[in-house]
Formats: sequence, structure tokens, C-alpha cells
Amino acid sequence: MAEMSKDIFLNELLGRMTAADKAGQLNLLAGTMDATGMKNTGDLEAKILSGQCGAVLNVYTPAATRALQELALASPLGIPLIFGYDVIHGHRTIFPIPLALACSWNLELIESCARAAAAEAAADGLHWVYSPMVDISLDPRWGRVAEGAGEDPWLGAKIAAAMVRGYQGADLADLTSVLACVKHFALYGAPMGGRDYNTVDMSRRAMEETYFPPYRAAIDAGAQTVMTSFNEIDGIPASGNRWLLTDLLRVEWGFQGWIVTDYTSISEMINHGTAATDTEAAQQALEAGVDMDMMSEAFLTSLPELLENQQVTMEQVDAAVLRVLATKWDLGLFRDAFARCDDARAAAIFQHPATRQLACEAAREAMVLLKNEGQLLPLDKQGSIAVIGTLADSGRDMLGCWIAAGDEAVAVSGLAGIREIAGAMATVVFATGDDLTEAGRLASEADHVILVLGETWEMYGEAASRTTIRLSSHQRKLAKRVLKSGKPCVLVTLSGRPLELTWEDSKFPAILHAWALGSEGGRALAEIIFGEAAPIGKLTMGFPRSVGQVPMTYREKPTGRPFDAAAKYSSKYLDAGNEALYPFGHGLTYGNCDYGPVTVSSAAMLPGGSVTVSAGITNPNPHPVTETLQLYLRDLVASVSRPVKELRAYQRVTLAAGETRIVSFEITDADLTFPGRDFKPVVEPGDFEAMIGPSSADLRAVRFTRLGDAE
Ligand code: BGC
Repeated sequence: MAEMSKDIFLNELLGRMTAADKAGQLNLLAGTMDATGMKNTGDLEAKILSGQCGAVLNVYTPAATRALQELALASPLGIPLIFGYDVIHGHRTIFPIPLALACSWNLELIESCARAAAAEAAADGLHWVYSPMVDISLDPRWGRVAEGAGEDPWLGAKIAAAMVRGYQGADLADLTSVLACVKHFALYGAPMGGRDYNTVDMSRRAMEETYFPPYRAAIDAGAQTVMTSFNEIDGIPASGNRWLLTDLLRVEWGFQGWIVTDYTSISEMINHGTAATDTEAAQQALEAGVDMDMMSEAFLTSLPELLENQQVTMEQVDAAVLRVLATKWDLGLFRDAFARCDDARAAAIFQHPATRQLACEAAREAMVLLKNEGQLLPLDKQGSIAVIGTLADSGRDMLGCWIAAGDEAVAVSGLAGIREIAGAMATVVFATGDDLTEAGRLASEADHVILVLGETWEMYGEAASRTTIRLSSHQRKLAKRVLKSGKPCVLVTLSGRPLELTWEDSKFPAILHAWALGSEGGRALAEIIFGEAAPIGKLTMGFPRSVGQVPMTYREKPTGRPFDAAAKYSSKYLDAGNEALYPFGHGLTYGNCDYGPVTVSSAAMLPGGSVTVSAGITNPNPHPVTETLQLYLRDLVASVSRPVKELRAYQRVTLAAGETRIVSFEITDADLTFPGRDFKPVVEPGDFEAMIGPSSADLRAVRFTRLGDAE
């Protein structure tokens, strides 16, 4: 009955719309509460009032969205607006940047963070978030790695689905739900040279094996919208690429929602050199399958003319308009366009203590202990502790990039957290480190030093690619000066990307990577430093030894000339190893576990059957230890070359003091499936290697054979 009335309502409405009204519904314009692209909307209010705008980005708060919604309702057809915004890792309460949160490997936690972000966003007048960003990237020069889940497609797919579930909840009309927008479709994380917006040139195999799985998982999880990417694919910009948006996304993957372009990317087809005018670009975009135009205004200005000249059909335009209107119906906008404009609700939800607590938990789990020689960490809360580095005292840098409506005034900096947790028992002194002599003196006078270095928030994110990913030369000088004191020194690193820490690794006994941890970051950081909690994060993107190694991945293919340090003509560098300094999956905790041999339940696996692979793990410490065991697989001989290892499962276990446990993973055909020569999923009989360990570079292996049908 409800569906019936929805169809009748929408078709009746569509029947009353002119070509211009329809173009208006497909036009997404930006307000001025944030600037996220090169072009501004000059006359937003006038366009809304005349029905030339179907959705708005970069406007939030109950008052601001109400004011624009009133204009929309006063427009000739009175169709309400959808409000969208870049809620990337929280809205008011900020969670760790996505790359950091991914390092928790905790899907439930990630889903909860998205759910909490959705509730705050929805209470702030919003219906739509431009998240999750699921672009796989193997290149830390690209600043937007901060916004994704890292290098691994399998884990990236799980995280993408969890975020979609969190944002959209069970029902879009629920006042705590928002539409998710999967971005950037597609391959945006592989620009040449790691330079943002640069050309992507990729094999179909890399697309299928490495880059597509997270987009697809997000769509299978029910994501209602997809954002196109800025790059070209096989010479055709994504926003005008019919193979990508229609043949693949809609037909092959069955995507039912609607497609929005990225900021001005229809017009940018002119710069790409595949359209001469906005009108040509608009035609290409609509034909490719785009439904909504973000900020080019090319649909607005060109669709009526294109219809008139029969260069696009009314069916094409109507299909796009109906998708957008149907979402407005599903959001409940035709019933009550102001349901999300309630100041009292907003005040009750923003920065709620439970959300702040969730942010603290997320921050704790996002940190990765890279090195801890001599168990320098955790520190005792006693004596004198010198905290050094401007980043230690910055709430803003703790929040990270894309902070939506986050407020640095209520963000806990590292220094504030350290003072709160240890200040009553230890003497905490601070220096920015701008003055090297002062920093050296403070370090010499202290019992312990916590040196906080890395990237400021502007050094990563969109349009923030770098050709070097080391600490700055001043930070290196500061590090040398502090180390000269001879005092035990913990290096805490903040960043939005994997850094090149080879020099630091050779000098510092302990390195704790803290990324940008969000509103509660400093508190969580101090809890880890002083042992109130143990670090459990595992890298989801390797840290290279040298930027010259990137792009790089632990999932590399075997070459014809595998690495051999002694053989000149093997695949290697003259001046660095092949592996990451800190590989994918790496992350220490306080007191590590011992691994026993890996065993398999049967040397042969029947078609459609399973084998169980197990590892014994012992906690030799006098306290409980939590470890994330990772299972990797390798298909030894197949019809196409397969990666030397691929993550296929993991389990987080907590072992009591002295406990030994057998941890088991069941392997089925689904885990052995890969895109065959024709890119269709296939399982091939033959030998496989299963590997278990605490990181992708520390594994114990066992073999089994997947039998063929006749065997
Ligand atoms: C970014 C998107 C973002 C959009 C809207 C673009 O520049 O690439 O990720 O969602 O702006 O702010």
C-alpha cells in the first residue's frame, strides 16, 4: 500500500514537471559553510526559490537548513531539498581519521562510529554524507590515503560495508540515519605519481582484484548513492564513462540507487579534453548514467536544450529524476521536510558523553605501536616527563583533515591528555621544540621524553600530495637534539599517511603511531602511553623504508625473478630492501605472544567443502594480552598469477596470563575464489598455502590441496 502510494505520488509529481524543473532536481549546489571545491554558488537562494536546485552541500545546522528548506517549499513545485556534507570521520564529535580507525580492524566499532556520526549529522539538518571513501591506495604520497581504509581490498570491503550499515541504519526515514555515498567511483586512489587528480592508467585485472572489491561491498551493503571520481579510466573520465557507471555498476553489480558526480567533474571533462562544452559534457554524463551534477550546473543549463534537440531522451532524464525523488520520499521529506531541523534534538545529541566515549575507544584502538625496544612503553606515572613538539599541544592536528562541524576547542590534545592522566603523579613539562636549545635542556632535565612529531592536518587529505614523506628537516634536527640528552625517549608520530621512518626507527627505542585520533585523541594517547590500555592497532597500509618503493603492497605478485640478495638479476633495489619497514598487519602490544606451528585439519579439501587451519598461541606475560591473528592464503599455481599472500580472515583474541589457545580458521571455496582469465569468479583445484601470524611479514605456513571435481 505504502509502495503504491509512493509510485502514484512520484509519477503524478513527475507529470507536473517541466524539463527545467527536472534539470533543477538534478542540480546539486554548494552553500558557504565550507569550501570544498574551486567554484562557488553565487545565487543559491534564488536558484532554490525558482526550483533550480534539488540538493545542497556544505550547509548544516537546524537553522541554516530550515531557512533554505523554506525557500524550496516556496518554489513552484515545492519539492524539498536533500542536504549533504562531507561527514568523513564524525560530524560534531570527531573520530580518528578513517585510515587510523581501519587499523582497529574492529568492524563493530567502525560501524558504531558511522552510526554515531549519522545521528549527529542528521540532528544537524543533514540527510546525506559523502562517505565512505573506499578508494584502495598503495601510494602514501597521495594525501587522501587518510580518508580510506588502506591497501587491502578484502579488509577494505568489510570496512566499507560496515560504514554503509552504520550510516544508513535500518530505515532512512529514521531520524538517526543518513544516506551513504560510496566514493570515488572509481580507481581514484591510483593517480600516477601519487599526485591528486592525476591520470589513472590501470589493467582490468588490477581493477577486479584490488580496486573494485570495496565499492562493490558497499553497494551490496545497500549504499544508496555513489560519487564518481575525478580521474579518467581508459581515457574516458569517470563522470562520462558509460562502461563504468552503467554496464558495470548498474547492470553487472545491480546498483539501484543514484549517482552523483564529484565537485564540477562534468565541466572538468572539458579540461580532460573529451568534451568541448558543458553541453557536450552534460550529454556524456547523462548517457553514462550520472543522475546528479555536483556544482558544474551543466545539467541545469543544458538538459532542456539537449531534450529539445533530442540529444538525450526524456526517459533518461525521468529515470534520474525519479531516483532522486524516490529518495526524498524514503527520507520522509514529503511528509515533513523539517524533521531534522530541531535545535533541542541537536543539543541533546551533539557531543553526547556516550559518543565522546566511543570516540575515545576508537582512538585507543586506532593507534599502532610500531616499535618498543626494551619495553620502554608503557611509562610509569612518576618523575618528570618532558613533552616536546608543537603537535603535542594542538587540538586541531589531533582532529585531522575533513572535520565537518568538529570543534578544536573541545578536542583533547596529546599534552592535555598526558597532563590529565599523569599530571597528578608526575611532573609534566612542555616545549614546542621551535627552540632547539630549550628543547634539549628540557629533555636533559627530565626522566623521560615524549617527542611528538609528524604531519599537521593540512599536510594530508585532498589536494595534499607529497613527494617526500619524511619528517621535516626541523623535526629531524629536533629529534637529534632530544636524543643527544640520552634520556629514554618515546617518539609519538601523528600523520594522515604512512611515513618514511627509517631513520627514526634506527634511533628511537619506542615509536607509537597516533595518526590523527579525533576529539578524544589526547586522552586515548595518554592512556596508551601510561599503560591504562594496551595498543592493539595493526597497520592497514605498510610504511615504506623509502618513498622510492611506492606504490607498494604486501599483496604483490610473484615475479619471474624473485628477490635474492645474492643474485644480481633478481627483482630488488640496490639501496633498500623490498619489504616495508613496518608492513601491513604490523602492530605490537604490551607483551607479545608466542606462536606455535600452523596445522591443517586435512591435506585435501573437497569441492564445496572446507579445511580448518589452526595455530597455537601462548601468552607468556603475567597479564592478559590481546592479539589479532591474521590468516593469509596463496594459490600456488593458477590460470593467472596470484599474489604471494592475501588476507582472508582474522580474529582478535584476548589471552589470560600464561594461557595457550588454539585459534582456528575455516577455509571454504569462497576464500579461494579469484577473478579468472575472463574476470569471472573461479576456484581452481591445486595447492594452496595458508599462513597465520601477527603481521603480513611474520607468518607460519601450512599447505593443503583443493581437489578437483573428478578427484
Ligand atoms: C571531493 C569529494 C567531496 C566533494 C564535496 C570533492 O572535492 O573529492 O570527496 O565529497 O568535494 O565536498
